[in-house]
Amino acid sequence: MKIGRRAFAGSICAAAAGALSNALPGDVRALAQSVALKEIVPAGWLIGAAINQNQSDGRDTAAVELVTRQFNTISPENLLKFQSLHPEPDRFTFDAADRYVAFGAERGMAVIGHNLVWHSQTPRWVWDAPDGALADRDTMLARMRTHISTVVGRYKGRIHGWDVVNEALNEDGTLRDSPWRKGIGDDYIAQAFSFAHDADPNAELYYNDYNLATRPAKRAGAIRIVNDLRQRGIRIDAVGEQGHWRLDSPSPAELDQAIAGLRATGVKVMITELDVNLLPTAAPARGQPPSPESNPYANGLPDDVQQALARYYGAVFAVLLTHRDDITRVTFWGVSDGDSWLNRGRVNHPLLWDRQRRPKPAFEEVVKVLMRRP
Ligand code: G3I
Repeated sequence: MKIGRRAFAGSICAAAAGALSNALPGDVRALAQSVALKEIVPAGWLIGAAINQNQSDGRDTAAVELVTRQFNTISPENLLKFQSLHPEPDRFTFDAADRYVAFGAERGMAVIGHNLVWHSQTPRWVWDAPDGALADRDTMLARMRTHISTVVGRYKGRIHGWDVVNEALNEDGTLRDSPWRKGIGDDYIAQAFSFAHDADPNAELYYNDYNLATRPAKRAGAIRIVNDLRQRGIRIDAVGEQGHWRLDSPSPAELDQAIAGLRATGVKVMITELDVNLLPTAAPARGQPPSPESNPYANGLPDDVQQALARYYGAVFAVLLTHRDDITRVTFWGVSDGDSWLNRGRVNHPLLWDRQRRPKPAFEEVVKVLMRRP
């Protein structure tokens, strides 16, 4: 039994939803494979994945096909970071980024910019004075402004929204002592958002961080950032919880509470880098081969873990659906398991598609949850 794309367009056809809920497991798989997530998410949601250069350049054709079919938004895994675009003071390198933006535009997708201001993947020259000490406030602000106005200005009207500031918080909710903060002061965040708004007044602007769902103190810090921007009259459209999660964390209740808390600021909520890490936290030492204990799924995922992953993704999407009007975007951090940053010398299985780009039970579960929504 196969259900065509039109049955899923817009709101879900009741017959299709009924067919899925009554289907035997084999039928569920067949049905699920014919579904595109972008056609079954609530109206107004963006759903997407971070893509790498092999994908935006079109070399990884299987992933390109999958992304084109399933998603209506893309994020750049690394291509739009400071060090990728602006390696030296007077040198910008836009070629690969231009192709990333064109990839999304050609497919009518909402193209996301990630990110403008971060403590990582930023070249030293940005923060350094000639003597190697930290540059002074005016110098650093001028560099920030040049970077933001050049990059955001180049893609004006073509990038839907920007992660303006990424990961500015410590786990206790205080501001991270990044070189940006040390050089400019606490208002570096407000300055970055102002520069971005000046460069493209129509672009959406986001604050993006991790562990906002699991650490209430950190979430309180994000809420302070949002409130501060709003009090200053500076545009911010949404806060992104990255969503680098584990099977037991956050719990559905924690996620529900986190979305409600963030949304209470008045801005929308996005899950911007969703994946579920299945490996033990103790990673092998750098350069060392992983021990079997630290790499338990090197030869594949046992069925019970596969099912647990499916249940967790299903529970996550069930919570997200209860907040459908609070959420504007859900983005997976990678297309399929083999692409994920979470492998790092081991074999992880954090996404909805496996290494052969086959949909996993987790994909089927997400489809079922999305199709059963009232
Ligand atoms: O560019 C070099 C390449 O020349 C070299 O051959 C290769 C060999 O290892 O390394 C390449 O650089 C790597 C880069 O990804 C591109 O693949 C870096 O070593 C590696 O550290 C870098 O990791 C990225 C990481 O950000 C850096 O912090 C991950 O791909 C990317 O998924 C990850 O994304 C971040 C988000 O931006 C922010 N939130 C957390 C998320 C996960 O860490």
